[in-house]
Amino acid sequence: MKGNKMEKKANEIKKIVKEGYAKVAGQGTSCCSSGSCCRSAGSPQNISKIIGYSEAEISAAPDGANLGLGCGNPVAIASLKEGDIVLDLGSGPGFDAFLAARRVGRTGRVIGVDMTPEMLARARANAQKGDFGNVEFRLGEIENLPVKDGSIDVIISNCVINLSPDKAAVFKEAFRVLKPGGRLMVSDLALVSELPAAVKESIEAYVGCLAGAIEADAYLELIAAAGFQEVSIVSRSAYPTDGLSDELKAAGNAVASIKVSALKP
Ligand SMILES: C[S@@+](CC[C@H](N)C(=O)[O-])C[C@H]1O[C@@H](n2cnc3c(N)ncnc32)[C@H](O)[C@@H]1O
Repeated sequence: MKGNKMEKKANEIKKIVKEGYAKVAGQGTSCCSSGSCCRSAGSPQNISKIIGYSEAEISAAPDGANLGLGCGNPVAIASLKEGDIVLDLGSGPGFDAFLAARRVGRTGRVIGVDMTPEMLARARANAQKGDFGNVEFRLGEIENLPVKDGSIDVIISNCVINLSPDKAAVFKEAFRVLKPGGRLMVSDLALVSELPAAVKESIEAYVGCLAGAIEADAYLELIAAAGFQEVSIVSRSAYPTDGLSDELKAAGNAVASIKVSALKP
């Protein structure tokens, strides 16, 4: 595809993703129940349990911060310390940002970035509700982060990078904003086999984190190409497909949930 066409397609994808998540933020439900995408059925709490959050983590976040939108628990692998400065790419309603905020304490700070104003409003309201003085949510795109060079200790992200039409730019930006010695710790979906053709073309499946997914090896290569070292998959698990229609079950079986770690030297 030529430059202009690619840019137009990328902008179209972002518009669709933004509209999808604006709807989710407005309804305050996981996307499957809002009908805007196709995550497995169940309450946000159930989804979170299945994908690796403890009961304590699930009850620690303010009400409405967990909409069951993740596909893993990046905070669990991030080994955060008191005083760390953490950046959450695509922070949504703020669930992981709030968990990270408790770990880094008052001397640390968490910045969430999200491009959907409705999600941002929800995250900011949740921060107020939970009286989180060490969390800040910024409007912005993860391909062009509103964050200073070399200012972040740990980047986390949960089920977001698959949604980006320019994943190479996301990892380049992540590299730019991390301090030397900083770590990227993300949960995401990766393709393990070809998606059914109808799903590949489906807007719902794109917003639902399926159609934008790429193979794990290609994902790791993009991270390494941005300059990261020690790029590895920390764990991999099947995507929960309980409660999906047969068509979407087939799509769910074509992706896996991966947790990836990488170091900025
Ligand atoms: C599947 S939700 C995950 C939200 C959050 N990480 C969680 O686990 O609850 C995806 C989020 O990423 C945001 N997003 C998607 N693409 C983005 C981009 N290119 N730049 C910034 N935010 C993006 C959406 O607005 C949405 O809030």
